[in-house]
Amino acid sequence: MKRVLSLSKVYGLLEPGPVVLVSSSRHGVPNLMPMSWHMMVDFEPPLIACVISNRNYTFDTVCATRECVIAIPTVEIAKKVVACGNCSGRDVAKFSAIGLTPVAASTVGAPLIAECYANLECKLEDSRTAKRYEILVWQVQKAWIDPKRKNPRTIHHLGYGKFMVAGRTIQIASRMR
Ligand SMILES: Cc1cc2nc3c(=O)[nH]c(=O)nc-3n(C[C@H](O)[C@H](O)[C@H](O)COP(=O)(O)O)c2cc1C
Repeated sequence: MKRVLSLSKVYGLLEPGPVVLVSSSRHGVPNLMPMSWHMMVDFEPPLIACVISNRNYTFDTVCATRECVIAIPTVEIAKKVVACGNCSGRDVAKFSAIGLTPVAASTVGAPLIAECYANLECKLEDSRTAKRYEILVWQVQKAWIDPKRKNPRTIHHLGYGKFMVAGRTIQIASRMR
């Protein structure tokens, strides 16, 4: 038997993972925000569409600088990731307050995050959907990965502080890239 699910809970079924951290920098001051509403739009160069609320300080920064780093954290730093979402860069210097390490990127002013498994340096490709949906489309300029991390256990938001942790990997013959 199926039961009706409240429309307010639908996002928890489809909310894509992994949760990422959007790193940005304005006037030399770096900031971070967790984000789970994102999707791939193209393979190469990689394009990523992201919902960044215009209530967030990050929105002002990335619209002004047209740059960010999308960093992919793993379960080991999950509490720090959530802490970045419980305060604003308007009030808190999150890198130092939360204990994450900024590292200079090569093509953008926003810093990479040392503790993250992967870091994607991005430039703003298209902001035409920003006004209506707060969707910004980013083009990845350079991608970094930590070669020592063999099975990165990314975190996937289910809503209200609940996360699924990536686990087993399986391979199935597929024509899909
Ligand atoms: C797990 C998680 C996922 C989030 N996903 C998004 C998102 O996709 N888009 C968004 O605008 N805010 C999202 N947020 C909320 C922002 O991260 C939060 O408002 C943050 O404090 C904004 O920081 P800022 O003002 O320094 O930019 C998320 C928060 C958490 C904890």
